[in-house]
Amino acid sequence: MQESKKTNYDVVVLCGSPHKEGNTVAILQLLFKELSNITKTIHFAYELHVHPCIDCGFCHNEFGCIFHDDMDMLYATIKQSTFLIVASPLYFSHLPSPLKAIIDRCQVFWEYYKNNPSQTKRHAMAILIGGGNYYDMFMPGKITLRHYFNSLQYHYDEDNFLLLPNINSKNDIENADIMKKVEQTTRYILTVL
Ligand SMILES: Cc1cc2nc3c(=O)[nH]c(=O)nc-3n(C[C@H](O)[C@H](O)[C@H](O)COP(=O)(O)O)c2cc1C
Repeated sequence: MQESKKTNYDVVVLCGSPHKEGNTVAILQLLFKELSNITKTIHFAYELHVHPCIDCGFCHNEFGCIFHDDMDMLYATIKQSTFLIVASPLYFSHLPSPLKAIIDRCQVFWEYYKNNPSQTKRHAMAILIGGGNYYDMFMPGKITLRHYFNSLQYHYDEDNFLLLPNINSKNDIENADIMKKVEQTTRYILTVL
């Protein structure tokens, strides 16, 4: 794998797994090995205090929220990020609720960017893993993240989302097929950064 020569980029990860040593993080670690020159920060949704959106309408008029919690930090982090990765296990074919709460609170960005289009080219991608393997299992998560990335005016390519079925343990990760997919994802990230 070709080593990255780029150093001035930050990769911000929103992680939907409750397990800091779980399968989602194991995939991220494989990916990060190949991105050694790039700053990476993982925010674990389960560790953050994020009140669910209550559709109060505050963000219709100004960039911000009536709730002051860990979203204050995430709003600033997301706004500055050049590359955002949403990495998550599937829960009932969708994103776990703490991660969905963060996404809902990003309605602030939807309200803001519709009148103030982003001037910087920023990219996003998804890593979704599931223990099962069934028809259209990633579709609900993909639709939500498509809507999310569009609202935050990220560029993304759904064909380059890393979608991994049949992941129930570390044994399911350490194989040539997964390594090949991770390397493809690394190449994609290095191309767009
Ligand atoms: C509450 C719950 C719901 C789940 N729902 C699904 C599901 O709908 N589809 C699927 O493929 N796997 C499902 N799984 C399995 C997880 O996605 C899978 O075990 C994953 O590897 C866990 O990743 P982690 O170790 O990063 O937490 C579910 C697991 C839990 C705990």
